[in-house]
Parts: sequence; C-alpha cells; structure tokens
Amino acid sequence: MKLRTKLQVAAAITLVLFVALTNTIVYHVYETISAESEVERVQGQSESIAELVSSAIENDLPVQQILSETYVPNDGMVRIINQNDETVTTITREQRFLQFPTRYTNQHEANTQMTDEDERFAFVYTPIVWEDGTIVTLEISERLVGMEENMALLGLILVVASLLALIPAILGGWLLGAIILRPIHSLIHRMNSIQEKGSLQTIDEKRRRRDELQQLIDGFNAMIERLRVQFEKQDQFVSDASHELRTPLTIIDGYASMLKRWGKTKPDMLDEAIEAITSESTRMKQLAEQLLLLVKDEEHLTVNKADINVVTVVQHSVLAMEVATERDVRFSSSDELLIANADEQMLQQLTYILLDNAFKYSEDHVDVQVVKAGTNVELTVTDYGNGITPSEQTKIFDRFYRIEKSRSRAGGGSGLGLAIASKLVSLHNGTIGVDSVPREQTTFTVTLPMKG
Ligand SMILES: Nc1ncnc2c1ncn2[C@@H]1O[C@H](COP(=O)(O)OP(=O)(O)OP(=O)(O)O)[C@@H](O)[C@H]1O
Ligand SMILES: [Mg+2]
Repeated sequence: MKLRTKLQVAAAITLVLFVALTNTIVYHVYETISAESEVERVQGQSESIAELVSSAIENDLPVQQILSETYVPNDGMVRIINQNDETVTTITREQRFLQFPTRYTNQHEANTQMTDEDERFAFVYTPIVWEDGTIVTLEISERLVGMEENMALLGLILVVASLLALIPAILGGWLLGAIILRPIHSLIHRMNSIQEKGSLQTIDEKRRRRDELQQLIDGFNAMIERLRVQFEKQDQFVSDASHELRTPLTIIDGYASMLKRWGKTKPDMLDEAIEAITSESTRMKQLAEQLLLLVKDEEHLTVNKADINVVTVVQHSVLAMEVATERDVRFSSSDELLIANADEQMLQQLTYILLDNAFKYSEDHVDVQVVKAGTNVELTVTDYGNGITPSEQTKIFDRFYRIEKSRSRAGGGSGLGLAIASKLVSLHNGTIGVDSVPREQTTFTVTLPMKG
C-alpha cells in the first residue's frame, strides 16, 4: 500500500471511530433523559387519576363510569388490577394494549419498555384503595410516540453527521499525504537521477528546509561525501601501490634483459644482476605483505592477544635492532612489569617501525622508554634528527606519504611504516601520536591500555 493511501485510510478510520463513539454516547444520553421526562409526565397523569378515583369513592359515585367518561387516553390504557393479578377494569381505544401482562403491585413503580417493532411504552403503577376497600394497582401505560419520533430524527442526524465527517477525513488524509509526500517524491527522483548518472553527487537544495526531510538530505549528503572521500582514497591507494610495485619490477626487468643479452659473455655482470634481482624481489614481497596487512579488515586480521610484559618485549626488540644496525639505542622503563593484553609479534613490529624511522631520519643515538601513565602503558621513541614540521605531522600517518619523496626513496622507504603502525595500535584500542621540534628532536608516543 502506498504511503498516501495508508495515511488516508488511517485518518479516515480514526475519525470514523471517534465520531461513532461520540454519536453513540450522545444518542444514549438523550434517550435516557427523554425517557425520564416522559415517565414523569405519565406519573403526573397517574396522580390526578388516583385523586379522581379516591374522591369518587368518598362521594359514593360510580368510579368506573367516571373514569371512562373523563379519561380515555388516545394512545394508552388505564387499567385497574386486583391482588390476584386480574383486570378489574380497562379503559383504552387501542386493543393491542390488552396484550401487556397484568401485574399487581402495592408500590409506586414506573418504567419504559421497547418492543421488537421499536415501539416505546411508559408504564406507571400506583396502589389505590378500590370501591370494595381492597388495595388495587392503577396501571397507566402510554405509547411514547413523540419520543420515538425524536429518537428517529436524532439517529438520522447523527448518521448524516458521521457521513459528513468522513469527507474532511478523507480530504485531510489526501492533503496530508500530498504535503508530506511531494518533497519525498522529489528526493526519490533526485536520488534516482544520481544513480543513473553513476556519479557521487550530493543533493543541493536552493532553499534549506527546516524539517525532518532536511535531516534526511543532510544524512544522504554526508554519506555521499564519505563515500567520495573513501573512493578517492582507494583510487589513490591503488595508484600508489601499483607505482610502488612498478619500480622494483622495472629494475628486475632491466637486469633480466641485461642478463639475457650479456649474461653468457660477461660473467662479471652476473653477480650484480642477481644481487639486484634478489633484493628487489625481497622488497616487492615485503611491500605485498604490508599492503595486504593494510587493506585487510580488522575482523579478518588474526590478532593473538595475550597478557604480555610490554617492558621486556620492547627491550628485546630494541636489542635485536641495535645488534643488526649497530646504532646506539638507550632504553629505560618506569617499572619492570607493565602488563598489556596485546599481540606480541605486533608489538615487536610496532617497535621496529618506529626504530627504523628513527634510524633512517637521524644520525645520533635514539631513546626508547616504556612508562606507566595512569591506566595506560606508554612507549616513546625519541630521535634527534631533522624532525617533522607541524603541517607534516598530520600527514605522515597516511599511506604512502613521505616527506621529501626523493630523499626518503633513497632510504628504501615506501611510506607505509606509520600507516601500518596506526593500524596495529588501533587493533589494540591504543593511540599513536608525534611530537617534534624541527632540527632538534622527534618523539613518537604509543599508548596501550594496561591490563588490570
Ligand atoms: N623519526 C622521524 N623523523 C623525521 N621524519 C620522519 C620520522 N618518521 C617518519 N618520518 C617521515 O614520515 C614519513 C612516513 O613514514 P613511514 O614510516 O610511514 O614511511 P617511510 O619510513 O618513508 O617508509 P617505510 O616505513 O614504509 O619503509 C617518512 O617518509 C618521513 O619523511
Ligand atoms: Mg618508516
């Protein structure tokens, strides 16, 4: 069902139910009040007849005769009933009143009744003293024609009013649907045209709205913007990655053709070519592994977390790097035991990445510290090299970003180290940041949540 039809149906049903309920209440209240006043009227008549009867008895006059001469109701009946539920006398023009059962009572009673043919009657019972001195019941019954007519008219009015109320309900639903749905339709239209064009376009309204639809448009635009940035990043990543891979491939290709042409005649070339091919293939392999690590979703990466002592893991990595590079690294820690729930190999890799940079971009010694900072354990790597300017500090964590590309290239970097470091840190719910005073010192700080 379309939204507009739904709105229309809902509005109509609600209004019809409401009107039906109020009308029923009105009908019943009016019915009760009318019946009460009709009964009161008949009771009045009954009282005057009772007085007439008692004065006739007192004066020894023929009661029955007086009654039939003075009171012959048009659409009713006067009846005297004795204690054996038998009719003593009946005065009526309508024979059908005789069908009502005779009932003796020594109390004042009154009620109304409705027959199956929707005819209403009022009955009033008054105990009086009869000619023979016994108590009898004076029963006055009357058909309430006026009330019947009024009730029929009221019923008609209420039904017509209910039907009339349907018109604005349907119209209102239709109007509501039109008002709400028009902008939604235009939104759908725009979204479809964006999809047809195949480009990531935002919806730009000339006039800003002040309703939920604007929120919808804003949400849609924000999503498109994010997708656009994401796609651009992806494009950049793919082109950077292929560029990075092309360089070693070109070198390998160059040496391979050289070998093909001169390999047999110039054996002294062999060593150089094999050396270059091996080192470039190793570089490509590393690059491929790094790329894979970067593009994998966090869920698809195997992280073997365990409670490890960050102090010893970092210290061992530092020692290994020191031996391999023959550089001077000064290690210190605030405690001997700082436990974190982390993947040991990833923590090692993180240390290598930061140390590798420190070695590459400085000549002097490097300081490494592991300290307790509140509920975190903090790893800092400080070098005293060229440093990184503030504007560059925000970019160095991007994939493939390198300051002074040509210089860094000579050092063999591809600009993936810090991007990988960021990913490793986020896998551990930690943070990584840099603080640098150009030409003085650079400190990379990693914080990891401590266990316990
Ligand atoms: N300690 C540092 N001092 C000065 N510049 C740095 C330092 N660490 C990183 N940088 C700058 O940030 C850039 C990005 O570093 P990153 O580790 O991501 O890449 P890389 O070292 O160039 O290559 P890779 O690590 O992939 O071999 C580097 O190219 C370098 O210009
Ligand atoms: Mg690096």
